Amino acid sequence: MELFLDTANVEEIRHAADMGVICGVTTNPSLIAREGRDFYETVAEITTIVDGPVSAEVMSEKGADMVREAQEIRKKIKSDNLVIKIPMTAEGLHAVRELTRMGIRTNVTLVFSSAQALLAACAGATYVSPFLGRLDDIGESGLELIREIASLFAVQHIGTKIIAASIRTPGHVIGAAAAGAQVVTLPYKVLCQMVHHPLTDAGIERFVKDWKAAGLS
Ligand code: E4P
Repeated sequence: MELFLDTANVEEIRHAADMGVICGVTTNPSLIAREGRDFYETVAEITTIVDGPVSAEVMSEKGADMVREAQEIRKKIKSDNLVIKIPMTAEGLHAVRELTRMGIRTNVTLVFSSAQALLAACAGATYVSPFLGRLDDIGESGLELIREIASLFAVQHIGTKIIAASIRTPGHVIGAAAAGAQVVTLPYKVLCQMVHHPLTDAGIERFVKDWKAAGLS
């Protein structure tokens, strides 16, 4: 399985890439807006930091406009790693079908049910992004949805990859991986939470203390 970083902050991406655990990046309009920078400039810079897929979302509502917007993004950001993120709507499915015909990879976002995931796969999506945290927020189980989609895709030999998104905790990451998501896209904060454990910090402190006490350098 692979870990992507869910952010448009290039410093966070650089730091995570340096750790050697991040294979790609997902952005969304809110994450881009939070950085206060130009969309094209930001996404282009991200594609130079990571070697893997970088998702950039279209803002159009009509399918034909989404396709045009996707082509525009690809014209301005010349990277083989670019993946076009399309919202899970009827118009979005039309766009996914067209883009798939053109050989353009897509990530269908804002997926909240197995029915939506199946439709996205049938339209030819490269990735589907079920949102765990937002489902948990309304009292449903995000992890249960990942399990359901993963078993559905396995039974039907569907090649569309599942990106577990809207991740809030390290437990979400482990749960999504165990449930069969091929990718988990996580915020930088959750990545940092996964790195640290108080016993690791205490262990390092004790090793250093013992080393010094023995007069070793
Ligand atoms: C996925 O690609 C989205 O960017 C993301 O995971 C949204 O998560 P949120 O619910 O934390 O906004």
